[in-house]
Amino acid sequence: MCGIVGYIGNQNSQGILVEGLKKLEYRGYDSAGIAVFTQEGLQVVKAKGRLANLESKLEEHPLAGSAGIGHTRWATHGKPSDANSHPHTDNSQKFSVVHNGIVENYLELKEELMAGGAHFTSETDTEVISHLIAREYEGDIVKAVQKAITYMRGAFALGVLTEYEPDKLVAVRQASPLIIGIGEGENFIGSDIPALLKYTRNVYILNDGEMAVLTRDAVELMTIEGNFIAREMITVDWDAVTAEKAGYEHFMLKEIHEQPRAYRDTMLGRVNAEGNKVILPELSLTEEQIKNIRNIQIVACGTAYHAGLVGRTMIESLVRIPVENDVASEYRYRSPIVSPETLVIVVSQSGETADTLAALREAQANGAHVLAITNVVGSSIAREANDVLVTLAGPEIAVASTKAYTSQLIALALFSLYLAEVRGTQTAEQVAHILAAMQALPEQVETILAQKDAIKTYAEQISDNKHLFFIGRGVDYAVATEGSLKLKEISYIHSEAYAAGELKHGTLALIEDGIPVIALATQEAVLEKTVSNIKEVKARGAEVLAITHEEHVTDLLKSVDQAFVIPKTLPLLTPTLSVVTLQLLAYYTSLALGHDVDKPRNLAKSVTVE
Ligand code: AGP
Repeated sequence: MCGIVGYIGNQNSQGILVEGLKKLEYRGYDSAGIAVFTQEGLQVVKAKGRLANLESKLEEHPLAGSAGIGHTRWATHGKPSDANSHPHTDNSQKFSVVHNGIVENYLELKEELMAGGAHFTSETDTEVISHLIAREYEGDIVKAVQKAITYMRGAFALGVLTEYEPDKLVAVRQASPLIIGIGEGENFIGSDIPALLKYTRNVYILNDGEMAVLTRDAVELMTIEGNFIAREMITVDWDAVTAEKAGYEHFMLKEIHEQPRAYRDTMLGRVNAEGNKVILPELSLTEEQIKNIRNIQIVACGTAYHAGLVGRTMIESLVRIPVENDVASEYRYRSPIVSPETLVIVVSQSGETADTLAALREAQANGAHVLAITNVVGSSIAREANDVLVTLAGPEIAVASTKAYTSQLIALALFSLYLAEVRGTQTAEQVAHILAAMQALPEQVETILAQKDAIKTYAEQISDNKHLFFIGRGVDYAVATEGSLKLKEISYIHSEAYAAGELKHGTLALIEDGIPVIALATQEAVLEKTVSNIKEVKARGAEVLAITHEEHVTDLLKSVDQAFVIPKTLPLLTPTLSVVTLQLLAYYTSLALGHDVDKPRNLAKSVTVE
């Protein structure tokens, strides 16, 4: 999972490539490199580590030229090192390649190429591509690339340059995202829109099995077999500022603060004027299909999976259809029981998560109708699903997902209400009541954001703990799972989320003096039970923080050490508020520990490998 940029035009390409890579660092950041056509030929500079290392090298050895390719890497084959960084070249140094994805049969190809005399300088799968293209070149780079990829199995997005044809940049997409940016007298390639936004808003999105040949003045799109294709150009309406930090110290903090807007945008145009009906004209699901749904499976990874846990409760309580949750990497291998009456909902911020995409394909192959809830229009998942419900969170840059998660909750609530309307399980009054509560959420989030100083102080208190627990019942438990993941991924503190009633079946043994337990206590129907569970951990020495509503604080403070209040909403909607407290908690804990909040170790934003 890496980031690719490419430029061919009349400006000096080095700055454009580096700027583009900066916008793609969330896709991978263990090394980076660029290749540029200079007066001395095709030259490559690459460096292990953050992009700043590459920038320092480029200060010493600037590359002047108006066409080039660049790459930011997240290692899959071979450790992060200068040698394993992209771009990769062949032995003649005349061909240069950047690659995102995995060449599954690279070992076999490497052997074959070595037998033919190729000398390898890296441990990567990518290097086979540059050697293959060089081997197949007979005066036409497009044909050489087409021929080379017939030997390759796996997922790849490629940017290719050759010194023999310096007026061409060739791009290929096969199961890894790639877009083409159109400028005036200049054209671009990029793994994602933020890489190109500074230069153009006009893009073509390549589909799997397609390629593009870019010159300074034109872009030709074709299948990898060479059949020319016509494609409508998309104008992206994100502005460059939307993709920047907007004055916040980190993207994560900015994105936490963007949630009120993200909630509003995700609801926008999806509720009728009377406020008692959800309208989702983008869906192809017919009333008959909806009435025939017998079961629903919600499949996703990580944070998106946690959103699905809340979605399950929403659907089951509002529509009374049985729902299963599945981690996508498990779903695809567990022979899921699916029928044409099964609706599979895949949830993915990026729309590119390899496991979720594979689960989608598995579900479709078994006859299910697949609805995707995603934040990225034109992503692989959006294009392959039968229906798409887009979350309008805007680009999410921080690795730790925040506004995408809460927008997924809003989308799942809207979809649950839509199902309830069609199946007649909720009256128009009940729907109106829930929708009114949803419309109030953005302002309620603001009141939580206003508590950030108190949350920061608490975060600083807990930051030197090695272990921590989150507990809750019902949707509070679902939120606990997300709070725990958020804390783990950016603070590196071990934490576990437990269904509050389950602790006593083993995990209670881990509770000892001073261990922080964060208890979500927002669900009135089970509040007494949650309080009993809080007392169980308190009796064993835990320091308990409760997250609850104002009306319960006085009582709860008899059993806990501290409490944060979230505004009152309907029980089903509380996750959209309580999680904001937990996001801020994770953020400030990471900050207190001096970690790289936006780019936690070992992780990448978009996981496009299995
Ligand atoms: C969340 O903070 C993580 N970065 C991660 O769990 C993420 O949600 C997961 O990889 C799924 O990504 P997706 O939503 O883009 O499919």
